[in-house]
Amino acid sequence: MVRSRIAGIGKYLPAHVVANNDLQSVMETSDEWIQERTGIRERRYGIKHEETTTTMAAQAARVAIERAGITVEDIDFILFATLSPDYYFPGCGVLLQRELGITSTSIGAMDIRNQCTGFVYGLATGDQFIRSGMYKNVLVVGAEMHSMGLDYSTRGRNVTVIFGDGAGAVVLQPTQEKGQGILSSKLHADGSHAEKLAFINPGAHGGYHNRYLDEPVDYGYGNEEYGGIFLTEKMVREGMTYPYMDGPFVFKLAVQKFPEVIQEVLSEAGASIEDLRMLIPHQANLRISQFVQRNLKLRDDQVWNNIQKYGNTTAASVPIALCEAVEAGAIQRGDLVCLAAFGSGFTWGANLIRW
Ligand code: ACO
Repeated sequence: MVRSRIAGIGKYLPAHVVANNDLQSVMETSDEWIQERTGIRERRYGIKHEETTTTMAAQAARVAIERAGITVEDIDFILFATLSPDYYFPGCGVLLQRELGITSTSIGAMDIRNQCTGFVYGLATGDQFIRSGMYKNVLVVGAEMHSMGLDYSTRGRNVTVIFGDGAGAVVLQPTQEKGQGILSSKLHADGSHAEKLAFINPGAHGGYHNRYLDEPVDYGYGNEEYGGIFLTEKMVREGMTYPYMDGPFVFKLAVQKFPEVIQEVLSEAGASIEDLRMLIPHQANLRISQFVQRNLKLRDDQVWNNIQKYGNTTAASVPIALCEAVEAGAIQRGDLVCLAAFGSGFTWGANLIRW
């Protein structure tokens, strides 16, 4: 039976460290508030106008490719998960192909728009391409340059303090080794609360989602003959061009869905929580991870947390944390590892891997 294994893994964190106190100088917040509610001490920001989501992804990908013992020309498919793409279109997949200097046009490239769950969805998707025999070296990337799109005024503080920049990447290859590789994946979606955690403008919605809101929003649309305007002056003036999050709502669902989906992948593989060497949760918020740990009765050494240093890097958080755990020697060959994520959509999912 062919399965996929992670043949190489890499991460990239920009050098610029932004501590909670640095944010305190531009908005009304405090180190104490941020640490108490989220566990975050600092995050990284990419260099404005020099680094992008794609360039950071390329840095992580080069490490993963080298560790897999292959060259960029061996990559036959790219899966790129991000919510902060360089361009509205085309997606970052093709930009990464160019950035890596991959000249072959036999390669496929695809973007995944599943926010915090993007990497988990990407791994499940890449796994299917490998199992079907269609591709042999699939590059799965999660990368974010949040710092370019956050509201640095006090108005945006509940969101802005949480997020950071970074990238993580893996190379998936087929393996015939019994019991090795990705054992199971579970993916879920529930669009009924799509606007609870969303970045709506610019978008071609034309007010569409008002029918799902308690209070309609006036976006300042005029009587344009063609309805396709993405951005109005009002949106920019009133700061409607930033992410929105109903924090308490997200918290309640996240702490419910994380344990459910972790149990699901374990049960599908005939394993139990005691078999788990390491849980790599999406680094949403330290409080969420601690809640999940308690719920599943996991020891401290069975859960990897690094949000304290990097903040929430959305699609990049799972591969960055996995890479860090591997580099630290906390995951060894034969260990059972679970990746799990929950995020905007809402979508949630998990992958179970025998390392
Ligand atoms: N600094 C200081 N005060 C703040 C800040 C800040 N950065 N942000 C919000 N506040 C204030 C609010 O204005 C509010 O003040 P008020 O009571 O005077 O109105 C007060 O703190 C409480 O605001 P809430 O938004 O209700 O804050 P809450 O206690 O819920 O904490 C938080 C916010 C940390 C986001 C929490 O809701 C949470 O943990 N949510 C989970 C969602 C999450 O972690 N999302 C991560 C990204 S999504 C994902 O990855 C799945």
